[in-house]
Amino acid sequence: MLTTINVHGNGMALEVLRDVIGHGPNGYSQSQYKAIISYLNEVASFKDCWEKIWSKDKLRFGVEPSDLAVNYTMPILKKIRDGVLWELGAGTGRDSIFLSKYCNNVTSIEITKTAANDIKKQLERKGIKNVEILNDDVWSILKRQNNLKKGFVDVVHAHSFLHYTKPIMTGVLFSEIYGLLRTGGHFVFGVKGKGDHLFGKGEEIDKDVWVFEDGQRRKFYDEESISEVLNNAGFEVEVLNTEKEFFDDTVSEFVVGVARKG
Ligand SMILES: C[S@@+](CC[C@H](N)C(=O)[O-])C[C@H]1O[C@@H](n2cnc3c(N)ncnc32)[C@H](O)[C@@H]1O
Repeated sequence: MLTTINVHGNGMALEVLRDVIGHGPNGYSQSQYKAIISYLNEVASFKDCWEKIWSKDKLRFGVEPSDLAVNYTMPILKKIRDGVLWELGAGTGRDSIFLSKYCNNVTSIEITKTAANDIKKQLERKGIKNVEILNDDVWSILKRQNNLKKGFVDVVHAHSFLHYTKPIMTGVLFSEIYGLLRTGGHFVFGVKGKGDHLFGKGEEIDKDVWVFEDGQRRKFYDEESISEVLNNAGFEVEVLNTEKEFFDDTVSEFVVGVARKG
């Protein structure tokens, strides 16, 4: 199934915010609200940027699963058996499709129509029935879901995605991921490391935040800085490594890890 919810254009941030969070206390601080509004104001241009990338080349990251999916997420799912997995920023679904063999069901969140439709086609071609695609922005989906029902997901997987948001917004997303997971559930992630080939290229707009010439903004982490964001969201860090991975036609550095909701 492909569920499409509208991604709103610039200037619609407050309306989206009201629509998504509903009424009542949400546990966000004033600075987090500001970060969410600024994020919602830029999300449409991020979407456009990725629509262009995926329209040009749907095989940009290949069809083989990421090292993160193979070495970290799959072994956890194998132990759980019949688990519930959510993937954030799924791209053309190489990890969701691979991991669907090791769990009961997968929910794949992807903002672009181009990549989401590509996952849908692959699922139909391969006869895979246990993957649902949600075609919208990650924060809006996580928040809407947590408003309805929390604490039922065994594993959240996010490869090469959470370094695109500003650090304060990454903290907001980590808190929503925490809410989504059941107690004892795992968050498996890979974010760009400071030893990555893109670190130091383009313009530095904040500490370790670089805007590359194609307009993409990335925060580069090390093990200490990502631990801090995880701990602030309530996670216990179980595994943290800095690894090289062949990605996007070159060798990239990722800080990868597994964090647990205690
Ligand atoms: C670097 S790609 C990684 C794709 C995939 N995880 C992989 O490793 O093959 C990042 C993906 O996140 C998606 N994305 C970016 N911002 C998003 C958002 N706010 N909500 C959902 N998806 C988003 C992009 O469209 C893109 O497909």
